[in-house]
Amino acid sequence: MYRSHTCGELNLKNQGQTVTLSGWVQNLREFGKLTFLDLRDRYGITQVVFNAEENQALYEKAHELGREFVVQVTGLVKERENKNLNIPTGEIEIIASEFSILNSSEIPPFTIIDDTDGSEELRMRYRYLDIRRNPLKDKLIFRHKVAQLFRQYLSQEGFIEVETPVLIKSTPEGARDFVVPSRVNPGQFFALPQSPQTFKQLLMVGGLDKYFQIVKCFRDEDLRADRQPEFTQVDCEMSFVEQEDILQVFELATKFIVKETKGIDLGTFPRMTYEHAMNTYGNDKPDIRFGMEFCELNELVKGKDFAIFDSAELVVGIKVEGASEWTRKQIDEWTDYVKTPQVGATGLIWAKYNLDGTLTSSVNKFYSEEDLKKWSEKFKAKAGDLMLILAGEAKKVRPQLSALRMAIAEKLGLRKADEFAPLWVVDFPLLDWDEESGRYHAMHHPFTAPKPEDQALLETDPLKVRANAYDLVLNGNEVAGGSVRIYDKNLQSKMFNLLGFSQEEAEAQFGFLMNAFKFGAPPHAGIAFGFDRFVSILGGSETIRDYIAFPKNNSARDIMIDAPSRLDDKQLDELALKVITNR
Ligand code: AMO
Repeated sequence: MYRSHTCGELNLKNQGQTVTLSGWVQNLREFGKLTFLDLRDRYGITQVVFNAEENQALYEKAHELGREFVVQVTGLVKERENKNLNIPTGEIEIIASEFSILNSSEIPPFTIIDDTDGSEELRMRYRYLDIRRNPLKDKLIFRHKVAQLFRQYLSQEGFIEVETPVLIKSTPEGARDFVVPSRVNPGQFFALPQSPQTFKQLLMVGGLDKYFQIVKCFRDEDLRADRQPEFTQVDCEMSFVEQEDILQVFELATKFIVKETKGIDLGTFPRMTYEHAMNTYGNDKPDIRFGMEFCELNELVKGKDFAIFDSAELVVGIKVEGASEWTRKQIDEWTDYVKTPQVGATGLIWAKYNLDGTLTSSVNKFYSEEDLKKWSEKFKAKAGDLMLILAGEAKKVRPQLSALRMAIAEKLGLRKADEFAPLWVVDFPLLDWDEESGRYHAMHHPFTAPKPEDQALLETDPLKVRANAYDLVLNGNEVAGGSVRIYDKNLQSKMFNLLGFSQEEAEAQFGFLMNAFKFGAPPHAGIAFGFDRFVSILGGSETIRDYIAFPKNNSARDIMIDAPSRLDDKQLDELALKVITNR
C-alpha cells in the first residue's frame, strides 16, 4: 500500500495515528537537528519532520532527497508548534519513522510553486510539471466539474450521449479541414470533423430525439486566445423543436452550471437581434457588463464644413463616464490605438463635457459649444464625461468603435472576471457576401433554416434573409452557437445552389444527408457550446489554453511532443504521398 491518506486530508483529528503518505518533495528546510519536508500530491501539502535526535539514520537518509523526488513516508501525526492556518493540514505534521525514495528527479526547469519563475514557453514544454502546480491543476479539475455538470443536466433532461466518427468527410463550418490520408485507399483522404453537424442531424433522422456529445472538433484556422486547432464542443441536437425550445433548454442548462460552479443566479437572459447588437455595440458578441453603447450623430454633425463628418456614411461615438479630465496625452494614446493596423481607423474625434459645465472638442473650429451641447444630449452625457467619435463607412466604423470600446473597458477594469452577463443574439442573417470568391456564404452553416417569413426573399434579396440562428454570448465571447435546421430536401438543395454548389458538387459532398432527408427527417434544431471557452470564462479567463491540458502554441504546434513533424519516406510511400517531397 503506497498510502493510507492523501497529503491534503490530515488534521488535528488524526493526532496520534500512524499514517503513510506518498507524494513529491515540494521543499526541504534544515533547522538545527531537524529537517522539514513539504510533501505534495494533488490534494495538498503535508509537513514531514525528520528528527536527528529520534532517528539519526533516517535523518541522514533524508539528505539524499531533492526537489520533486517521489517519496513514501510513514510516521506519527502530531500537533505542530508553529501552525500554518493557511492550509488545511497546517495544524499537524508527520514525525517520520520510515521512508523510501520511490523515484528520483532531476532539478526541474522551473520552480513548481503557485508563483512560478517559469516562462510560458518553458511551462508549455514541460506541461506535465506545470500541471503539478495548483493554478493549472485547479483549472483542469474545474473543467472536469463543468463537463460532469453538462452530462448530469443533459442526461437528466433525456439527452443521450452518442459518439460520432472522427474520420469523416469535410464538414463546411467555414474553416479549413485537417486531413488524414487513407493507406488502404491510396490518394484518398478523410477530413477530421470541424463539428459533428451532419452526423447529429442524421441521428435525428434516426429518431434519437435528443442527442449530446462532449466532442473534439478540428479547425485549421488562425489562432487567437479563444481559438485552438482542436477544441471541444458540447454538441447538442433535438427533434420536434423550434428555436424557442432550444433557447429555453440551454438557458436553463447554462444557469444550472453557473449556479453549481459559481453560486450565482443568472436570471433571465436578455435577447438581442443581430442588427441591434451591431448597431449598438458594433459587434455580434457584445460585452454588456458595462454601458458605452454607441450613439449615432449623423443628423447632428453634417453640413458644418467638417469634411470628415460630411463625407462619412456613419458618425458614431461612445461616452466614457468621468473621463473628461483625461489629458491630451491619454487621448493621443487612444488615437494611436485606433490607428493601429488591427483597428484601422484614420483618426479619433473627442468632445469633453467639462466638470465646470463648458464643452470643448478637437473640432472646435467647426462646431460651436451650442453644437456640442446637442451632441452631449444625444449621448446623455453629464459634466465629467468624455465623448469619443469615429467616422467612415458604417461596416468599418462599427467594428473599429467596438474595438475601442472593449480596449477602454479593459483598461478601466470594467470587464470584471467575476461578473457574468449572458445574452442571446438572434436573427442572424442567413448569408453574407464574400468579396473574394464573389459568392454567398452561409453565415452559420448551409444547414441553417431561413426564417419562414423571410423565405420568399431567397429569390429576390438573399442578403436580407434572416436565419433561425442564435448565439449564446457571455462577457463578450461567443460561447455557443446553433440554429434550426433545414429538413426539407428541396429547400436544402436550393440552399446549396445559392451557395454556389453545382448539383454534382452538392451530391458528392452532401448526398448522404440529402438522401437521408428522403426518408422522413423530423423538424430539428440544435446548438454547440464551445466548451473550452465556456469553462475558461467561468473560471475568469479568456485564454482557453489555460484550461486545456495539452494545448497547441500560437504557431499551432505542440512544443512538448514536437508535433507536427515530418514522416519518413517509408511511411509516406505507404500512404501514397511519395510525390510530396519530404525535405
Ligand atoms: P460554431 O461553429 O458556432 O457552430 O461552433 C460552436 C462553438 O464552438 C466554439 N468554437 C471554438 N472554440 C475554440 N476554438 C475554436 N477554434 C473554435 N471554433 C468554434 C465557439 C462556438 O460558439 N455545428 C455548429 C453548431 C450547431 O449549429 O449546432 C457549430 O459548430 O464557442
